[in-house]
Amino acid sequence: MKRAIITGITGQDGSYLADLLLAKGYKVYGMVRRSSTENFERIEHLRGKISIVQADLLDQLSIIELMEEVEPHEVYNLAAQSFVPTSWTQPTLTGEFTGLGVTKMLEAIKLVNRKIKFYQASSSEMFGKVRETPQNELTPFYPRSPYGVAKVYGHFITVNYRESYDMFAVSGILFNHESPRRGLEFVTRKITDGVARIALGVAKDIRLGNLHAKRDWGFAGDYVEAMWMMLQHKPAEDFVIATGESHTVKEFARLAFEHVGLNWRKYVKVDEKLYRPAEVTQLRGNPAKARRILRWRPRVDLAGLVRMMVEADIVRIQEQLSKR
Ligand code: NAP
Ligand code: GDD
Repeated sequence: MKRAIITGITGQDGSYLADLLLAKGYKVYGMVRRSSTENFERIEHLRGKISIVQADLLDQLSIIELMEEVEPHEVYNLAAQSFVPTSWTQPTLTGEFTGLGVTKMLEAIKLVNRKIKFYQASSSEMFGKVRETPQNELTPFYPRSPYGVAKVYGHFITVNYRESYDMFAVSGILFNHESPRRGLEFVTRKITDGVARIALGVAKDIRLGNLHAKRDWGFAGDYVEAMWMMLQHKPAEDFVIATGESHTVKEFARLAFEHVGLNWRKYVKVDEKLYRPAEVTQLRGNPAKARRILRWRPRVDLAGLVRMMVEADIVRIQEQLSKR
């Protein structure tokens, strides 16, 4: 039976990837950092099916010991400080988690067993102030936030360990992917949660920042499949994962409100405090390489994603209200 370690198991992608690997017959080890209260909401349904193991991206020895104990075949490094605005208020912490944390994972693999396959969760934020559209594996990076800068480091250290030590280390350059399990502070989930509350009469409006920003949004369930495919494909190489379509925040809001029969203009308020010091105004990926080599393609389109997220938030908030 194949064994996999997933860092960031309590996050959106970690929970979907665990679902996928369990379905494929893996033994899954989810790495969590120590916390005074449990934060297992997204993996509640996996209790008893996966092993929870403690280690921290900031603690080299804890990661080495984890590799020795589990002897994994595959490691998926999804843990990071992943919220872009926080990277301006906590830039050094973001650098430690999101950047140097990757080196700690790679060093542990190098020390324990160089045959372990490694996946690094890289990001379209690395393209930042884009040099060309759409962006592909060869597009130069121009990060626009401490988060983006840290991810560029994580990307190149992964490439460097592959080239220096002949390790199977790949970087997946994933564009934005969303789901009902997305953190509430990210724009899509903030919108669908707000729409559900407004439709159920418990909120009056949603305050958003830049409505003109464009993103290439896909469904997280489709994207974790690409992560797994990258580790099954030889030789180790990097891939862009995206839908190839880009939409504005305003369009996402319009679709979400339309789903409950409301006009977004009446409920969305622009709050300039939510503007970013430096914005990534547009992202659109070119997934042609992944389509050609991995045979990967997304199954959920934007309309399907919006529907799935709004409906899940309505059910969740109705349940909360019924318990009051
Ligand atoms: P997420 O929901 O924010 O999850 C982040 C995870 O990292 C959480 O489980 C968090 O644990 C863990 N973590 C943070 N710091 C840690 C530390 N010091 N030690 C151990 N664990 C730590 O992120 P996501 O959306 O699932 O994204 C997964 C990865 O893909 C991230 O690296 C993100 O930057 C990257 N990415 C995401 C997207 C996207 O659109 N979702 C696109 C491209 C790349 P706690 O629960 O303890 O906080
Ligand atoms: N979060 C947020 N909240 N974003 C807003 C808001 C708001 O109220 N109003 C407008 N936006 C705009 C942001 O300015 C940004 O241009 C866009 O919506 C998307 O913001 P997020 O959903 O926070 O995502 P992100 O693109 O900054 O980062 C996500 O995707 C990256 C991949 O490109 C994160 O998941 C990163 O971890 C990931 O790497």
